[in-house]
Amino acid sequence: MRRFDGRVAFVTGAAHGIGRAIAIRLAAEGAAVVVADLDGEAAGALARTLAEHGGGALATHCDVRDREAVRSAVAAAATRFGRLDVLVNNVGVAGEWDFEKAGDDEWAQQSDPTLGGAVRCVQEALPHLLRAPGGGSVVSIGSVNGLAAFGGEAYSAAKAGLVSLTQNLALRYGRRGRELLGTGPGWVRFNLVAPGTVRTRVWEGRPEELESFAKQYPLGRVGEPEDIAAAVAFLASADAAWITGVVLPVDGGITAGHPAFFYDLR
Ligand SMILES: NC(=O)c1ccc[n+]([C@@H]2O[C@H](COP(=O)([O-])OP(=O)(O)OC[C@H]3O[C@@H](n4cnc5c(N)ncnc54)[C@H](O)[C@@H]3O)[C@@H](O)[C@H]2O)c1
Repeated sequence: MRRFDGRVAFVTGAAHGIGRAIAIRLAAEGAAVVVADLDGEAAGALARTLAEHGGGALATHCDVRDREAVRSAVAAAATRFGRLDVLVNNVGVAGEWDFEKAGDDEWAQQSDPTLGGAVRCVQEALPHLLRAPGGGSVVSIGSVNGLAAFGGEAYSAAKAGLVSLTQNLALRYGRRGRELLGTGPGWVRFNLVAPGTVRTRVWEGRPEELESFAKQYPLGRVGEPEDIAAAVAFLASADAAWITGVVLPVDGGITAGHPAFFYDLR
């Protein structure tokens, strides 16, 4: 029996990078996976690959900035699979940012998909997650940028917001479902994985930068998408049944202390 046999997972931003690795990992552990992404073509290709390997899979073109798109993607998932057990809020948007010059649009460009998108997805998925037979589970992808200052105020503040959202919703929905639904089990666990630098297309064309980052990491390398997927699978699974409201840095040790005190970083 695999950890996600019979379960359905909805993963946002699942067509590339970390989201893709999460979708593949959950599918390998038995989940039917909803590959929700702005890039409908790549989402479709991944869903076909997962299906070829025997898993249930559904691709949905879904922009997490758009409430209606999220609503209809969740509805399509529920219609297709009849349930929703796991939501992974993986979409996050970083980019060029100058605090002194940025206006409201630049702020919203990064904060809205990163934090607002997660709120929309949770709100739309919640009625299904509360009905999940073993309890629902939400795992959001934060960042070490949400735990300490690494630059990029709009992105980082949105990631810090995800931490607070995770903690608040963990308390709100730990046992409230039964009260809301009038029937059990009816709880949802909320946890967050905070990655350090992970080798995805966002670093494409910047190998020197990645190499110099690697020296800063106590474990001597940057992360791979599969490092993050493994942690997400744990927190989403019944192995983490008594874990809610936590922030798990998956960061090669970068937030543990000050590497400069231990290593020559030149
Ligand atoms: N790569 C890193 O170094 C790193 C570090 C810390 C945290 N993270 C976080 O991990 C997550 C994934 O990052 P990644 O590096 O895999 O990025 P990526 O660009 O490789 O993948 C992001 C995916 O999200 C999709 N997407 C973007 N905007 C969307 C929207 N509005 N609606 C739906 N889908 C959308 C993209 O099409 C893409 O498939 C993000 O939340 C990011 O902030 C990444």
